[in-house]
Amino acid sequence: CGIVGYVGHKEAYPIVLKGLKRLEYRGYDSAGVALLNGGLKVYKKKGKVAELEESVVGKDLHSNIAIGHTRWATHGEPNDRNAHPHISQSGEIAMIHNGIIENYAQIKRELVAKGYSFKSDTDTEVLLNFIDDIKQHNECSLEEAVRIALKRIVGAYCILLIHKDDPETIIAARKGSPLVIGIGKGEHFLASDASPIIEYTKEVVYVNDYEIAIVRPDELILKNLGNEKQTPFITELDMELAAIEKGGYDHFMLKEIFEQPQTIYDCLRGRLDADKGMITMSGIEKYAEQIMNANRIMIVACGTSWHAGLVAEYIFEELCRIPVEVEYASEFRYRNPVVHQGDVIIAISQSGETADTLVAIENAKENGAIILGVVNAVGSSISRLSHAGAYTHAGPEIGVASTKAFTAQLAVLTMIALKIAHKKGTISIEKYSILCKELAEVPDKVAEVLKLDDSIRLLAEKYKDAYDFLYLGRGYNFPIALEGALKLKEISYIHAEGYPAAEMKHGPIALVDEHLPVVFVATKDAYHEKVVSNMQEIKARKGKVIAVITEGDTVTPSIADDVIILPPAHEIIAPMLSVIPLQLLAYHIGVAKGYDVDKPRNLAKSVTVE
Ligand code: G6P
Repeated sequence: CGIVGYVGHKEAYPIVLKGLKRLEYRGYDSAGVALLNGGLKVYKKKGKVAELEESVVGKDLHSNIAIGHTRWATHGEPNDRNAHPHISQSGEIAMIHNGIIENYAQIKRELVAKGYSFKSDTDTEVLLNFIDDIKQHNECSLEEAVRIALKRIVGAYCILLIHKDDPETIIAARKGSPLVIGIGKGEHFLASDASPIIEYTKEVVYVNDYEIAIVRPDELILKNLGNEKQTPFITELDMELAAIEKGGYDHFMLKEIFEQPQTIYDCLRGRLDADKGMITMSGIEKYAEQIMNANRIMIVACGTSWHAGLVAEYIFEELCRIPVEVEYASEFRYRNPVVHQGDVIIAISQSGETADTLVAIENAKENGAIILGVVNAVGSSISRLSHAGAYTHAGPEIGVASTKAFTAQLAVLTMIALKIAHKKGTISIEKYSILCKELAEVPDKVAEVLKLDDSIRLLAEKYKDAYDFLYLGRGYNFPIALEGALKLKEISYIHAEGYPAAEMKHGPIALVDEHLPVVFVATKDAYHEKVVSNMQEIKARKGKVIAVITEGDTVTPSIADDVIILPPAHEIIAPMLSVIPLQLLAYHIGVAKGYDVDKPRNLAKSVTVE
């Protein structure tokens, strides 16, 4: 979910509404705002922020304080009733919430016993009435009631509350779900991330877990749950407004795909000096000895970031000769994993806020592991929890399906592996310098690949009505097959499966007939001939083959129905190129089918619930 708040001297509603639009990638099941205009007013609507906007046309929305929410449903189906903000039974307090209250059922039972009834199915309404009940019972301030209530809460939350009698104060608190506060002149802005704030101020405070913020036009007070004042740590945002706008592209996803030459360049810049064969990564250097000598490296991540982890597994094992395990964060955290003092864990995350990844590394850190973060969002929770790491520097990624963050993750992970291998002596000087040079050439090669956009759009037209797709690859390209299938599923709602090309014989081959398009990620590498054999197996069963191949490959075009030809690259570097046409294919199929590719149904970009 995304949350926004404003308190100051300006009209609050337009600021909050615009902020919600910027945060809509975090969830778009419903949206709502609460403001003070002759009493507490709440407007909320199922669907996207634009639907909320339409529903309030003609209303008097004048207010200098407001809170707003765009929802990704957890408790209770997406409808008007379950939309946030919620109002307490007394009608005095409005609240929005991002996260999940795990012990809501017990608290709800207690409140029901006291005579409370509930209008929605949400855990949020339970927490809100719990706070209101404490406030009335203790005759205390809202701030005090929030503090007392939160001491009993198990789960994750970022909450914003306003009271009908206090037009100057927003009370906010977080644990596990992000909150940034922007500091203006006589005004404050609150949001789940910096994107709604950036056009007003660059001075922000990232609120920490277990902190409560009392926010007024001229005052920002931070306290811990023990009621002790904390000093707000003000940081300067390093982000431009243009980075979060579409800039002439039809969709953020397309813009972000096309940004990749620049984002990969930004990621390498200042770190990789290919001529001198030098890689500088200060965060990693601090822990280089521990990484080099680690008995194993564990990588934890979710979604697309997990796929980047799989590519990294192949690269680290090949170059550094260190065993690597890649874990879904959600599985890792709950299966009592064996983590020892000094184990090295790499957490990969675009948002830096994914709840499963965050808690997985929290637990591992308690057991003495060294946590390295490969994170895109600067200042995010995962980056702050990590001992060290490397930012991917891809800039804000707004499209829900991850694209540029993925290639930047691959670039960072390749640099880390090269650095460690070089230091450890598990890579020859010659191979090291070839790979450094090839890495430096990636931005230009990606720009070459993007020229295929028009031909991929035609392919999308040709195959858009298929019901299923299979994506196959071997070695470094196997995770790319998984990623290609994930992109298609997310954006076009066509069922797609990624598989190791050879393993296909043990199951998916049963699906092959003349209706099934099979995308082979078959760039030139050590296994190329084997992949060509797998392609023959598909053709023998009348499947349609779309092959992503390398320039100079004379064999594949005579087998495949369609080919996408990429510039040559070392097999370790190739994934950063071979994923690009798969991103474009998913994008164009989604657009051809008329779907909202930036906000695919049911998904959210930043999953801050487990
Ligand atoms: C969500 C997004 C995916 C993303 C995954 C992990 O499911 O829709 O695009 O890959 O979360 O997110 P993270 O921010 O941790 O990389």
